[in-house]
Amino acid sequence: MIKVITYGTYDLLHQGHINLLRRAKELGDYLIVGVTSDSYDQGRGKLNTRNNVLERVEAVKATGYADEVIIEDYVGQKIDDIQKYEVDIFAIGSDWVGKFDYLNEYCKVVYLPRTEGISSTQLRAETQQTYRLGVIGSGRIARRFVPETKVVNGAEVVSVLNPDSAAAEAFAREFGLQAFTAFDDFIEGVDAVYIASPHPTHYAYAKRALEAGKHVLCEIPLVLSGAEARELYDLAERKKLVLLEASKTAFCPAFNHLVTLVKSGVIGDVVDVKASLSKMVAPPTRELDPAQAGGAMNEHAPLTLLAIIKILGRDYTHVDFYSKVENGVDIYTKAVISYPHATSSITLGIGVKTEGNLVISGTKGYIYVPAPWWLTDFFEVRFEDQAKNKKFFYSYDGEGLRYEIQEFIAMIISGRRSSYKLRRRESVTIAEIIDKFNNKENYTEL
Ligand code: CTP
Repeated sequence: MIKVITYGTYDLLHQGHINLLRRAKELGDYLIVGVTSDSYDQGRGKLNTRNNVLERVEAVKATGYADEVIIEDYVGQKIDDIQKYEVDIFAIGSDWVGKFDYLNEYCKVVYLPRTEGISSTQLRAETQQTYRLGVIGSGRIARRFVPETKVVNGAEVVSVLNPDSAAAEAFAREFGLQAFTAFDDFIEGVDAVYIASPHPTHYAYAKRALEAGKHVLCEIPLVLSGAEARELYDLAERKKLVLLEASKTAFCPAFNHLVTLVKSGVIGDVVDVKASLSKMVAPPTRELDPAQAGGAMNEHAPLTLLAIIKILGRDYTHVDFYSKVENGVDIYTKAVISYPHATSSITLGIGVKTEGNLVISGTKGYIYVPAPWWLTDFFEVRFEDQAKNKKFFYSYDGEGLRYEIQEFIAMIISGRRSSYKLRRRESVTIAEIIDKFNNKENYTEL
């Protein structure tokens, strides 16, 4: 019996897939079809699939060509499968010519003719509504944001707002956008906004955009007070709009997997989380400007607190802050956050350098994420018996902002106003802790 294997996503199953499966089946007597899992696709940057893995498996089965359907879940699985199932022929479409020659060592590799003029990408694009995004602010992060929208279906940046007309014009020229200096003119022509302006302006811009009926993706920190955060989320809920804090780490595949692994108990009960983030800056820069809410805490607390709150929850019992201050801003802050059954700390620097890693300690083992952990593409689960250690690798494509943009657009499309990756109440708790710091509660200056 000749066994054939082929792999694919098979999203919005189309005639190209059907032809491919028929040709693959004709090569032998028994056809195994590997369908990619949702997390595997996410991890390799394929963010836009419409059908989930169950729907895609059902669609493949319905063609009648597959004798067996398996799930493809990790890099390198093809070699394992070919050996495990004693496969004779690996078949794939001609768009992959040369890419799988390395499998010749294990079986025969056949590239089958691809059907011209149809693909899942094309079908998704044809049926996708595009949301017009306006960017508020034209600084460093906004510059990284615009190119990232190009890889997300359904998002198109059309304009930029900056009260400084020269800055708005320059940004608009660079990215082919329309420039605005007045909010009311700007907001008319968009469906959603991305706020990347100085921290103290986030609240007012978010409020105005929501009041105008537009969805809001707002850079971290969303706001610097719990009350303001709550007010904005309430407003968004009343208006049936999406308000999402652009905490990029929250949406990246590796971090999500890390959180689920911890929750599933691989390292036992978590007793400590330590998150550090230090990025040295030199003046003049807004991070060192008290008038622009500079300082290590306002700058870096959102991502580090995210790690703690995702793992230990929102019900902390106490928080203490220790800061080293220069020219009115904290160049270093350590916050110790206690829980009934665990401890945690964040160590932040903009004028003090330290290792930016994340360590989650449990009763059975610990998870180590090396610096820069907030751009997670790798982490290791470690045990006393090192033979049990396990390394996890992921792709973290581009600037990593595509994952938050994808989630934002998916929420708009599906009418979902909450994301399990960063709950509204979690974002409020983060704002509350920052608020406590700015009010100097339990605060010690070093
Ligand atoms: N395929 C094909 N003809 C097409 C499209 C796909 O023969 N017009 C083949 C691919 O070469 C692959 C299999 O179908 O062997 C599954 O491909 P998949 O990536 O799921 O389909 P695409 O339509 O190419 O998806 P996308 O646009 O998301 O890449």
